[in-house]
Parts: sequence; structure tokens; C-alpha cells
Amino acid sequence: MNLLILNGSPRAPRSNSKRYAEAFCRYWRGAVETEHLLRGDVNALCAKAGAADQVLLVFPLYADGLPTVLLSFLKAWERSMGEKKPTVSVLINCGFYEPEQNRVAVDMVRLFCKQTGCPFGSVLAIGSGEAILDTPFRFLVGRKLRKLAGAMARGRAVSLQCTMPISKGMFLRASTTYWTRYGQRFGRTAAELDTMDIEEGT
Ligand SMILES: Cc1cc2nc3c(=O)[nH]c(=O)nc-3n(C[C@H](O)[C@H](O)[C@H](O)COP(=O)(O)O)c2cc1C
Repeated sequence: MNLLILNGSPRAPRSNSKRYAEAFCRYWRGAVETEHLLRGDVNALCAKAGAADQVLLVFPLYADGLPTVLLSFLKAWERSMGEKKPTVSVLINCGFYEPEQNRVAVDMVRLFCKQTGCPFGSVLAIGSGEAILDTPFRFLVGRKLRKLAGAMARGRAVSLQCTMPISKGMFLRASTTYWTRYGQRFGRTAAELDTMDIEEGT
């Protein structure tokens, strides 16, 4: 079973998606190749995806949907889709606490599969995805990745999710402190971070 992992993060080389893909590979026993959509030649990537038995899309939630780099790739792949239809699975992470935030983006991939005839495989939706790998709760992600890899290897479709086992209030307080301090490192106040034009002059 040959698997192609496609990293659809706009910050692919330094992305959380890269870390999730690497962690997934620790549990995958078959042949696997990983490509970054941001860097690759789209025609070559479409050909690779078309030749794989399975494709795992690993990407972040962006504005409740798919990052543009992934959307563009899917459009190109749809146009060049051949006879072979690989099973497409999803490993998505989002910044917010709730893994359910990822639902619409997963449905977008499901629709892609319906329109192209590719079987839709398994899903792992991660909430608190920016943070969880740097906390003691990272083992929860490892468990779900092992389940995802096992299901994909057996050709079974599972839908999994994971987040930090803390209250939403605690998550909100911790993340607010984190981002406020992050802003301070770049000379930005909490009030400035709350404005729409925070990127002005950066
Ligand atoms: C432009 C932008 C839009 C985002 N939109 C959302 C969103 O709608 N919901 C959410 O929970 N997280 C959102 N995030 C947070 C990312 O999903 C999160 O930081 C993720 O871990 C990034 O993964 P990556 O490093 O693989 O790109 C957004 C981040 C950026 C930069």
C-alpha cells in the first residue's frame, strides 16, 4: 500500500502540520512519501497523487475552510484526475479548542471526493492544534494517530478527534496569555492585537 502525504500548510517547512505528519509516520508501516504543496510543482504533485493508493491531506484550518494552497491543488488535481482513484484521508488541526471547528473543511474534502469519485477515507480532527504538541497531552495525539494509521492500513474509515483535556475557560486564559506575550516580543500591545489592522507596518 503506497501512501502519499500532502502537507497543505502555507507555512509548510515550519508548520504544525509538518510535525503531525512526522508523528503519523511513526505509526505507518507501509511505504510513504511526503510532499509540501507550497513548494512543489503542481503537475508533478497531481501525477504523484494519482499514482498513490492512498493520499493523506495534512493541513490547518484557515478561516473555517481550506488554505488556498490546498484549494488550488485540489482544483488542479480534479482537472487532471485519471482512472485510478486513491482513497483520500484527512489529518486537520485548528487553533481553537474545539475539534468540531474543522467540520466544514472536512466536508469540503468530502465533497471533492464525491465529485471526483475518490473514496473518502478516515479523518483525525485536532483542536488546540497550535499548542497540544508542546504540552504533556501530546500523548493523546499519538494515540489517535496510531488509530488513524491502523484504520488506513486496514482500509477502514474512521472519524477521530482530539483536543486538550482542560476546560474551555482554562484554554482561553492560557492562549490569551500566550498570544499577548507573543505580541509583546514584537512590540505589540494586547489592544493592538485586537485591531483588524494589526498587520499594518509589520
Ligand atoms: C490566516 C489564518 C487563519 C486561521 N483560521 C483559523 C480558524 O478559522 N479556526 C481555527 O480554529 N484556527 C485558525 N487558524 C489557526 C491555525 O489553524 C493553527 O494555528 C494551526 O495550528 C496552523 O497549522 P500549520 O502550522 O500547520 O499551518 C488560522 C491561522 C491563520 C494563520
